[in-house]
Amino acid sequence: MRDQVSHRSRLFTESVIREMTRLCNQHGGVNLAQGFPDFPAPAAVKEAAARAVLEDVNQYAITWGAKRLRDAIAAKTVRFQGLRYDPETELTVCCGATECMAASLLALVNPGDEVIVFEPFYENYGPDAILCAAEPRFVRLREPDWSYDPVELERAFTNRTRAIVINTPNNPTGKVFGREELEHIAALCRKWDVVAITDEIYEHIVYDGAEHIPLASLDGMRERTVAISGVSKTYSVTGWRIGWCLAPAALTAAIRKVHDFLTVGAPAPLQEAAAVALEMPRDYYHKLAEGYRERRDFLVPALEAAGFRAFRPRGAYYVMTDISEFGFDHDVEFARHLVATVGVAAVPGSSFYADPLSGRRRLRFHFARRRETLEDAAERLGRLAARSTTASS
Ligand SMILES: Cc1ncc(COP(=O)(O)O)c(C=O)c1O
Repeated sequence: MRDQVSHRSRLFTESVIREMTRLCNQHGGVNLAQGFPDFPAPAAVKEAAARAVLEDVNQYAITWGAKRLRDAIAAKTVRFQGLRYDPETELTVCCGATECMAASLLALVNPGDEVIVFEPFYENYGPDAILCAAEPRFVRLREPDWSYDPVELERAFTNRTRAIVINTPNNPTGKVFGREELEHIAALCRKWDVVAITDEIYEHIVYDGAEHIPLASLDGMRERTVAISGVSKTYSVTGWRIGWCLAPAALTAAIRKVHDFLTVGAPAPLQEAAAVALEMPRDYYHKLAEGYRERRDFLVPALEAAGFRAFRPRGAYYVMTDISEFGFDHDVEFARHLVATVGVAAVPGSSFYADPLSGRRRLRFHFARRRETLEDAAERLGRLAARSTTASS
């Protein structure tokens, strides 16, 4: 029989996060691998979703998003970022930021074009680039502050560069790109006539006075940026699958076409509820960030006490760690060991690098968990420290 599977689909593997989740369940462990909250979404938002279903908002919404939601997104973008987008022509609602990224790349990038991606990167960007036959060019973010080398970035731009993907606040590093870095990126985009695709899904989760700066707000960038965000992280509803792309009309028209044939539209009743979520008062966002700061300040010392070197995040809800102290040569092996011996699941660092060897001394934990879940994790991690001490004494 002829090979029934496409070459493209062979170029990437299944997410290793799923394996960690499966192992975690087998060992009755605490899952700090896949980043989603284990605490409830705001009651008003859940009630709005239930109401929409009962009121029979149960058929397809407009392909590029229910009018009420598009209006709410445009209004919130003005309120928080001072940026104006026309909800009729410059906004597309998709099935999560995940579809937004795939649809944007498919709509804007030709096979063989180069797309610059900062590394370590959110797992999906690799397969996204492969699916549209683009060639990713990786630029390294370096510990401890995850800054990039300006010369390395400048060298990555060529005549073949079509787009650059910027995720800020960043998964997996917790980096929040600063103004100077964004100005530098913007100048390169203008110089090389490149489109920036920004993944801003953690826009409201920043700490220690860090500021989320939308790239589109910089000079000359609104006309060459696709800004992506969504409800998953901000309102703790990752299963609702609602995200959006803000982009100039010509780019939006292409993104809408791809989106239409990929998924037709995001869930209609949940779009109504998302519109309610977007009207939350400012105080909601302060509390959200503060809640995550408290969780970070609990987990980071617990990891350090257990022997990890933790790179303290300034945004998003992940901590990258260095596992060198544990004497394992391989991150996946160590991740399996961690879940099997003390029952804590984390993501092997190699998942975030094109060359797995670059991540072999890294492990990523997330802290979108209730306090008691994190306390359980800390207690388990403490056992790891005790084991290491016994083993070495
Ligand atoms: C950087 C980043 N972008 C996008 C997503 C997924 O967003 P959505 O649930 O809106 O598809 C995640 C989820 O972990 C993420 O970390």
